[in-house]
Amino acid sequence: MESIIITIDGASSTGKSSLAKAIAKHYGFKHIDSGAMYRALTLYAQDHNLLNDHKFDVDTLIDHLPTIDIDFTNADEITLNGKIIEDQVRSMEVSNKVSLVAKEPLFRQFMVAKQRQLGEKGNVVMDGRDIGSVVFPNATIKFFLEASMEVRTNRRYEELIEKGEQVSVEEVHANIAKRDHIDSSRDDSPLIIPENAIVLSNDKEGLTGLFNIATAEIDIHLR
Ligand code: DC
Repeated sequence: MESIIITIDGASSTGKSSLAKAIAKHYGFKHIDSGAMYRALTLYAQDHNLLNDHKFDVDTLIDHLPTIDIDFTNADEITLNGKIIEDQVRSMEVSNKVSLVAKEPLFRQFMVAKQRQLGEKGNVVMDGRDIGSVVFPNATIKFFLEASMEVRTNRRYEELIEKGEQVSVEEVHANIAKRDHIDSSRDDSPLIIPENAIVLSNDKEGLTGLFNIATAEIDIHLR
């Protein structure tokens, strides 16, 4: 079988990662959550006191890049310098700051290089914002996932509550709206629908419906 790269892009909390996970499991592919990689760098910056409500020391974080290893375990869990940080990267604190890190071109170059390396062996499903447009413009098949603000807010709110975070629906809504603005208006690789992407909506379908539509499309390519 040829080497397959499936990309799923879309705004935050549209359900990209859940769909990517389900597709990867079905075909026995690797799932790479590229958003988790930007979150890992954000966590590193926070832990090293380079990023808080009052400052973001971009230059020092750039100096640290050669010492920062962001990777995934065989079970597709995100690691930072060898430590699994799945839960830490999903915190509200990281969510509030990650778009600031993700809009810096040097950090994007660092991530894109790593993402291409992770995808080079193929048989991967990678989700994010610029995977079909910038990272793998020649991917086998590209999806773009949309969902209403209400569906996205509820998804993220329930996810955080389940993890024991104390947040309000209003806070989550404000964070998503702020990130949408930064992610779509940044100069470097803003969120766009990649050329030739199949647009899916999470509003009516739900995960099973999306999975059925996506795998039917993928099966046509694999035939
Ligand atoms: O998908 P997510 O919410 O976990 O992504 C976290 C942040 O990372 C999001 O605000 C935008 C950024 N991001 C990006 O710029 N490019 C990607 N390929 C993935 C995520």
